[in-house]
Amino acid sequence: MFLVTGATGGLGRRVVRSLRDQGQSVRAFVRLNSQYSELESRGAEIFIGDLLREKDLEKACREVQFIISTHGSDESEGGTALEIDYRANIELIDQAKASEVQHFVFVSVLGADRGYEDAPVFKAKRAVELYLQGSGLNYTILRPSGFASNLLPLAEQFRQTGIYLMVGDPKIRTSIVSTDDLARIAIACPTTPAARNQVFAVGGPEVLERGEIVQMFGRIFNREPIFLNLPLLAVDGVRTAVGLFNPDLKDALGTFRTLLSNEFYCTPAEIETLESVFDLQMEPLESYLRRNFGL
Ligand SMILES: NC(=O)c1ccc[n+]([C@@H]2O[C@H](COP(=O)([O-])OP(=O)(O)OC[C@H]3O[C@@H](n4cnc5c(N)ncnc54)[C@H](OP(=O)(O)O)[C@@H]3O)[C@@H](O)[C@H]2O)c1
Repeated sequence: MFLVTGATGGLGRRVVRSLRDQGQSVRAFVRLNSQYSELESRGAEIFIGDLLREKDLEKACREVQFIISTHGSDESEGGTALEIDYRANIELIDQAKASEVQHFVFVSVLGADRGYEDAPVFKAKRAVELYLQGSGLNYTILRPSGFASNLLPLAEQFRQTGIYLMVGDPKIRTSIVSTDDLARIAIACPTTPAARNQVFAVGGPEVLERGEIVQMFGRIFNREPIFLNLPLLAVDGVRTAVGLFNPDLKDALGTFRTLLSNEFYCTPAEIETLESVFDLQMEPLESYLRRNFGL
């Protein structure tokens, strides 16, 4: 039995789908108010709980062999990086040990080890990585770059309006990863000997400047982009204003700023390692977008 946390998230849903396509038994950890009917209809066992409650984590881990931790914090939904990205994972690891789980897959973030001081999610991920590595559990840590699925709403908006709004420098490089490839990798970790107790950077096969993604949208939807580019200073202004009445949200925006102002891409050697260990070919972003829009 696999336990998947964050099962209703962009990645978690794909992880549950891929596991069920393989006929694996899956327990999907979901919140009562989340949209989980699709997971249920695919045959996942629905475990309703809240990651903020230790008792729920303890129950969810019973009779589980493998855990894939894909949950993440969203300040607007309640739950800070400290509570969700850090504490819930530490508790999950402790419960995994108590339940003698055979393999723990942790979805971290590319750059978790760079020591970004002003980014609570990055700090939480790094602390969890270290805790997991010292736990005695078999583990795999995946450090993905930005998810291609996050671009789908933006692409839909572009298709309708031609508008692409970007905050920050269009020259910044990224290697957006197909969320489907990442899900495939996550579920393969427990049965891939070369993935045991390893850390992998996970990105798409090409390094793109963010500005190239705008051109890509133009090509795919066959329209001239209306490109609106806001400087990072805009985020700084919002952060300062928000900080006056909501310090937690100001902290969360620190993670957002870190994401916008730094480069997150994988080297060709890292992609080669991924492709050889997991025996797959990482999908380029343009192919991912065309496939999802049937173009
Ligand atoms: N998105 C990216 O570009 C990116 C890049 C690198 C790394 N990552 C990491 O990859 C992982 C997956 O990202 P994602 O974009 O797929 O995440 P996501 O779509 O934001 O989903 C987050 C999941 O966590 C669940 N969750 C949050 N608080 C919870 C709580 N208190 N109790 C139970 N469940 C809770 C959410 O449930 P609800 O549906 O109920 O809200 C949702 O299923 C995260 O760890 C993220 O940090 C993401």
